[in-house]
Amino acid sequence: MARAAFLFLALIFCFHTTQATWFCLRTNNKRVRIINPPTLFDPVPFGFSHIAVDTKNFVAHVAGQVAINQTGAIIGDTLAEQLVETERNLLFALDAVEADISDITRVNAFILNFDPRTDLSTFMMTGKRLGSPVTTLISTGALAIEGLLVEIELDAVVSRSFVRRLICQ
Ligand SMILES: *[C@@H]1O[C@H](CO)[C@@H](O)[C@H](O)[C@H]1NC(C)=O
Repeated sequence: MARAAFLFLALIFCFHTTQATWFCLRTNNKRVRIINPPTLFDPVPFGFSHIAVDTKNFVAHVAGQVAINQTGAIIGDTLAEQLVETERNLLFALDAVEADISDITRVNAFILNFDPRTDLSTFMMTGKRLGSPVTTLISTGALAIEGLLVEIELDAVVSRSFVRRLICQ
């Protein structure tokens, strides 16, 4: 008898918890949530944002990251140096959505005047450090700011619990 009562209460509790989350997720009418973490420079004055979380698909879209630090300085004169700073910013972005490199679903990399003879091996090191994700590499004639050599954007899946906290708090 006591066991049946316990099971009944446990069932009610589970139902209540699921229901509350379900309700919050359903009534959240703003599907896309923008995040600009303090670890990355403030992009809003430049007319863009760093991260959009699709709260229905549990995916985070990260804007093209470059070798610019929190205070807006370009870090690195070579592709290898700029890749390191760019990766650092990508990891800050992943961190802001409680994801890591294993959550990456897509990487697009844009390299200024890409030269396969010298740049490919350098870029491959970044790919390996990011866990060899699904990647597209594109050579470009110009990037947003003079002095930048590379820009990398990515998408990553995020957890349900992260989305719940993002929109239900
Ligand atoms: C950004 O880089 C510049 C130039 O190297 C440096 O003076 C500044 O302290 C850096 N800012 C941060 C937050 O690391």
